[in-house]
Amino acid sequence: MARTGSRPLVVTADAALLDDLLRLAATAGTELEVATDPAAARPHYERAPVVLVGPDQTAPLVRARLRRRAVVLVGHTGAADPPPGLIARLGIAHIATLPAAEDWLVAQLGTPPPAPPGRVIALLGGRGGAGVSTFAVTLAVTAAHTGRRVLLLDADPLGGRLDLMVGVKQFARPGPGALTMLNLDTIEADGVPGQAVAGTLDTGRGRHDLIVVDVARHLDRAGQAVLQAADQAYLVVPAELRASLSAGRVAALARPHSRHLAMIVRDASADTLPVDDVARTVRLTVAGTYRSDPALRTILARGEVPSAGGPGPLVDLCRRLLTASPGRDTGEAAA
Ligand SMILES: Nc1ncnc2c1ncn2[C@@H]1O[C@H](COP(=O)(O)OP(=O)(O)OP(=O)(O)O)[C@@H](O)[C@H]1O
Ligand SMILES: [Mg+2]
Repeated sequence: MARTGSRPLVVTADAALLDDLLRLAATAGTELEVATDPAAARPHYERAPVVLVGPDQTAPLVRARLRRRAVVLVGHTGAADPPPGLIARLGIAHIATLPAAEDWLVAQLGTPPPAPPGRVIALLGGRGGAGVSTFAVTLAVTAAHTGRRVLLLDADPLGGRLDLMVGVKQFARPGPGALTMLNLDTIEADGVPGQAVAGTLDTGRGRHDLIVVDVARHLDRAGQAVLQAADQAYLVVPAELRASLSAGRVAALARPHSRHLAMIVRDASADTLPVDDVARTVRLTVAGTYRSDPALRTILARGEVPSAGGPGPLVDLCRRLLTASPGRDTGEAAA
């Protein structure tokens, strides 16, 4: 059932016109918010995706001084045309005459609501060289392969330049989705640190299904802003004692800024450090684990796109993370 406030709104006290519009809405599979006068229309007028106005309510709506927005004037054949001044003052963008405009109206009413805002995933490392940039690129490319519109944001100015990691030739056609890359230096050039990146994420959510951010682990202002905006943050921790200890310090810096912070453990084993020991040291939930992939090391050394090498442990983990809900990582440690 449609949410109140997001339904198309019809403003008319003309019962015959209303009957027709309810029938057309049913054909479009939509429910209408019905208002017989401007007072009843007011709570829905600005938010409704479409506003249909009957000829009987045009003058009352202008008098009610609601915030001007685009509306559709809809009436039966023979209804008098509104005076030109009223068209402009009410914001009439289209005049639909019934029954001729029935198909057009059904199409307008059936238009799906706007897509939900994109999800932001921030990645940072427990130590230098933890594998964050490789992870970020693999996550972004894997998501684009499954049809998502992805923005990959390099917010680690001292890191290894994501744009160099992502070979331009393969990058152009990552799959059925689309992949765009942005470097923080470009965004923050003239801005207040943090503010510009927050604005970029805000705008980016409207245009992308997923935004993956490679965050500098010293957590500068931009990094803090990314964590504050992110739906999910992952700390990548190699399963080594020193890496775990330093990851614990990064986690302490990140925790106050992050709603959902979990870690990904790389190469945990009985020979290195078991995953439980890493979790105890870093004091974060383990959202997943993966093993280093010798084939991937070769691919990276050649400057090729990580997931262009086909499936592997990291791609498998990225697929799982892409289907997980934010904040729902509950310590499930994948092999
Ligand atoms: N999944 C993997 N399998 C094998 N080798 C990997 C993998 N991920 C990273 N590496 C190796 O580790 C190196 C560092 O990786 P990467 O640049 O992704 O780490 P980083 O955490 O972003 O480092 P930095 O701190 O410099 O930003 C790579 O050049 C590669 O040799
Ligand atoms: Mg890096």
